[in-house]
Amino acid sequence: MSVRDLHRKPFDDGTTDKLDLYRGYLRAWLPTFIHSPQSVNTIQVIDFFAGPGKDVDGNLGSPLITCEEVRLALTNARTGKPPVINLVFNEYMPDKYQELVRCLEGIRPELPEATFHHSQMDFHVAFAQWLPLMQRPKTANLLFLDQNGVKQVTEDIFQTMASLPRTDFLFFLSSATANRFKDDPSIRASLPLRDEDFVHINGTNVHRRLTEAYYRWVPDGKRFFIAPFSIRKGANVYGLVFCSPHPRGMDKFLQLAWKQGGDANFDIDDDRIDPSAPFFPEFAEFEKPTKVKMFENALERAIKNRELKTNKAVYEFALRHGVLAEHARDALKRMVRDGLLPKQTFHVSYGAWEKVAAEPIRFC
Ligand SMILES: C[S@@+](CC[C@H](N)C(=O)[O-])C[C@H]1O[C@@H](n2cnc3c(N)ncnc32)[C@H](O)[C@@H]1O
Repeated sequence: MSVRDLHRKPFDDGTTDKLDLYRGYLRAWLPTFIHSPQSVNTIQVIDFFAGPGKDVDGNLGSPLITCEEVRLALTNARTGKPPVINLVFNEYMPDKYQELVRCLEGIRPELPEATFHHSQMDFHVAFAQWLPLMQRPKTANLLFLDQNGVKQVTEDIFQTMASLPRTDFLFFLSSATANRFKDDPSIRASLPLRDEDFVHINGTNVHRRLTEAYYRWVPDGKRFFIAPFSIRKGANVYGLVFCSPHPRGMDKFLQLAWKQGGDANFDIDDDRIDPSAPFFPEFAEFEKPTKVKMFENALERAIKNRELKTNKAVYEFALRHGVLAEHARDALKRMVRDGLLPKQTFHVSYGAWEKVAAEPIRFC
């Protein structure tokens, strides 16, 4: 199985979309912790598969994107002492590592507030080395695992990351590879898939389905959120998996993903909705993405079965279905219009979730 080296050519559109999403999430995540030194004294961005820093045309790779976003967040930060900022970059190929070090030396003077760490290790060695520092209670981590292929984020690694305090992580999956080599034991051993999953998997939905399967690896009883973002390149679909133990992290990621179409950079459900066309409310039902319709059906079932009894439960349910709080509010309002729920006001948002008391849904 050959591994594509994305640094030999200019980044393609798929890689650019992946890096844009990474940049967007950093931009949303950094201010949360730069502004709250009372709960967090250290923030760490750890790029375990960093690459050389740029592509052959000088387009920025993830390490330099990280540096740019940290610079921006510090510039926009309110006055006051920022937390310790550790920026960690690991790349094991010698030539790429040398290039990476050169790039970081160039940008380091612009970020005197941050401490730079770079290493040339196998991912698993770097992970083990940083683990005690990722586990410190007043540290917030954003981990980026832009692996080649599918094999590095094993069950053990996933569960360790999912158990870390204040840690969000994003990893790349070459999902088409997982589908194509589904009978290869070494591929299957590194993925949460079961034989029966392949009945529903096709070349288009493979990344979405594969991402859902990671819920099987979440430690028992842990509140956790996972969302896919599928990226198509020619006939192949791959993508990012976003993971967070906190609704705020998932909310921010989904806001970003919905600005780019929901959970894919292509029309994954063949909805043929043109986002640039004028919006006519009378056609809203026809213009609704399949993903939102599926969520509305699931929500209606869960409400009818009394499985969701509060505004907070509805909010978490929406995040687990990869839709926004506003999708949940719209769906509840429609249930009122259809006479399935009595008239009431629904506070479904991150702000409402943060409040101590949950508000009950009134069923009659
Ligand atoms: C997809 S690229 C990362 C691209 C990078 N995020 C960027 O924006 O340029 C994956 C990188 O991981 C490196 N790599 C592959 N296997 C690795 C391993 N086991 N440990 C550490 N690095 C590895 C590769 O040399 C390659 O540069």
